[in-house]
Amino acid sequence: MQIAALLHKNPLVLAPLAGYSDLPFRLLCRRFGAGLCYTEMVSCHGLVYDRQKTVQLTRSVPEERPVALQLFGADPEKMGKAAAIASEMGIDIIDINMGCPVKKVVKKGAGAGLMKTPDLAAAIIRRVCASTSLPVSVKIRLGWTPDTLTAPQFARMAEENGASLIAVHGRTWSQGFGGDVDWQSIASVKKSVAIPVIGNGDITSHRDALDKLARWGCDGVMIGRGAMGNPWIFSPADTPGSLSERCQGLLQHLELIRLYYSEPDRMLARIKNHAGRYFKGITGGSAFRRRIYAAPTFDALQNIIS
Ligand SMILES: Cc1cc2nc3c(=O)[nH]c(=O)nc-3n(C[C@H](O)[C@H](O)[C@H](O)COP(=O)(O)O)c2cc1C
Repeated sequence: MQIAALLHKNPLVLAPLAGYSDLPFRLLCRRFGAGLCYTEMVSCHGLVYDRQKTVQLTRSVPEERPVALQLFGADPEKMGKAAAIASEMGIDIIDINMGCPVKKVVKKGAGAGLMKTPDLAAAIIRRVCASTSLPVSVKIRLGWTPDTLTAPQFARMAEENGASLIAVHGRTWSQGFGGDVDWQSIASVKKSVAIPVIGNGDITSHRDALDKLARWGCDGVMIGRGAMGNPWIFSPADTPGSLSERCQGLLQHLELIRLYYSEPDRMLARIKNHAGRYFKGITGGSAFRRRIYAAPTFDALQNIIS
């Protein structure tokens, strides 16, 4: 009920994006209108063994709430322990990644690999739910291949084992990120469960998000790549009206990076990747990107944008 009310108030959700949906970007997306943001995927092992790189990914602040922290792994016990640790971090939802198609994740039975092993997936969901008092969401795909669209049964299984929310990317594992998103099948997932369902895949504008929401009856819509370099997608403004507005948005993003990363120069490549995306598809964009990529330091980058 709580999650349904949350999505009813604001159904626009920032997707978990490894390498992108870190604390500064989540805060920025909240500022621009996102109702709920997901963290990057966090390894259950990294959290249980207190690996600093992993722990850094879990950093959150009260201003960004509500926030969902996404865990990945294939070991029910470790996932349960990680969920218990994450529950103490001032977050609102624990999400389990059952949709990541990346080889090194799937090879270990985690991510989308769990859609092939529903008994193990059920054990993980049960263990995570037993280890936390927070609501648990599960992010899935439509199935393994177009011939095995198991998402409706899988979502029902998740609900029966304690999940309170399903997010579904409307592609199969075999599609990766290519081919069309099948919103009809996302709608079938929505019809198969009583818990809220968030639809996800290829949303390109604010209007598109609202249209998908109205057309397919989901409780929320999740935006990933459409938000990268474009947090405006969460607001009715949709895209910045001028180059200056675009730069103002990026400057806000850079200020948040400076606030939350003590050594931004150490992650300059990642920051440039974010920054370059603000100038995709606009006249003169490639010249801007060249200047961004040539910046030797974070300060220099900030000066260029200023
Ligand atoms: C760079 C990148 C990183 C991603 N990282 C994650 C992740 O950590 N966890 C996850 O569940 N999905 C991840 N995804 C998948 C997205 O959350 C989303 O399901 C997918 O991109 C489809 O939505 P979109 O078309 O709006 O991007 C990632 C996608 C991209 C492009």
